[in-house]
Amino acid sequence: MDMNTGKPYVICHMLGSVDGRIKQDIWGFKDHHKYFEETAEKIEADAWLVGRVTMQEFSSKKDHKINAGVSNLTHEDFVAQQPAATYAVVIDPSGKCFWDSNMVSTEHVIEVLTEQVSAGYLEHLRGANVSYIFGGKEELDLDLVLQKLYRLFNIKTVRIDGGGHVNGSFLKAGLIDEFSLVLAPIADGTIGSPTVFEVEEGYGSRKATQFKIMSVERVYEHFLWIRYLVIKDNNTSL
Ligand SMILES: NC(=O)c1ccc[n+]([C@@H]2O[C@H](COP(=O)([O-])OP(=O)(O)OC[C@H]3O[C@@H](n4cnc5c(N)ncnc54)[C@H](OP(=O)(O)O)[C@@H]3O)[C@@H](O)[C@H]2O)c1
Repeated sequence: MDMNTGKPYVICHMLGSVDGRIKQDIWGFKDHHKYFEETAEKIEADAWLVGRVTMQEFSSKKDHKINAGVSNLTHEDFVAQQPAATYAVVIDPSGKCFWDSNMVSTEHVIEVLTEQVSAGYLEHLRGANVSYIFGGKEELDLDLVLQKLYRLFNIKTVRIDGGGHVNGSFLKAGLIDEFSLVLAPIADGTIGSPTVFEVEEGYGSRKATQFKIMSVERVYEHFLWIRYLVIKDNNTSL
């Protein structure tokens, strides 16, 4: 799928309300995980990738202490020796996720960091045998991040699983190839709650991203699973 581009093919997968919101706090679904998970499992990928806020639902809830005295760990990428060939990647620029294990379910954890993180935090990751890569000094270069995931971990297809801020930053960088939306039969209406793509405030010179439909399927009786292809040349008139 990668056509030798040196970076993975990127499919963003989300469960959204008809008004594009993604937090399910008031949706009243009994088994809300299945709508997202069962559809996600049908998308073949070597890794899934989420934002720091979303990953904190899976990372350690314990109070971890950072050793402030560490100085011998430099900002070099670390590829842990471990057996898994599928990955759970988190965009965590300042190192806020802590780990008791280097796995989420059957996937090995890769932390995407900036050089803002402390050597003590890197020691924590090494202690848990969690892999980490640097995507920039203060800000992340998401194109570089994808190239490293391809080169260091052989990730050829990555599924971006949210939240809205991570989706928005990959969209803004023009790095999403496909968008897979499970459209829930819900009007949420919570002003200020994250939406499928959080890119920037207000209307500037930026153009919206257009899609083409690849497939539409009615699922779980009243949901639609819509798979879109991103139109990379934004000047197409639909
Ligand atoms: N319905 C669904 O399908 C679905 C799927 C996933 C998540 N969710 C929900 O979405 C909510 C979280 O969404 P969210 O948009 O608030 O958070 P998010 O995208 O999970 O995480 C945002 C954080 O990731 C880091 N980040 C993202 N892009 C970055 C970039 N380009 N450069 C640097 N850092 C970047 C920042 O971390 P720092 O703040 O540490 O700098 C940022 O605050 C949760 O309630 C979750 O349950 C829903």
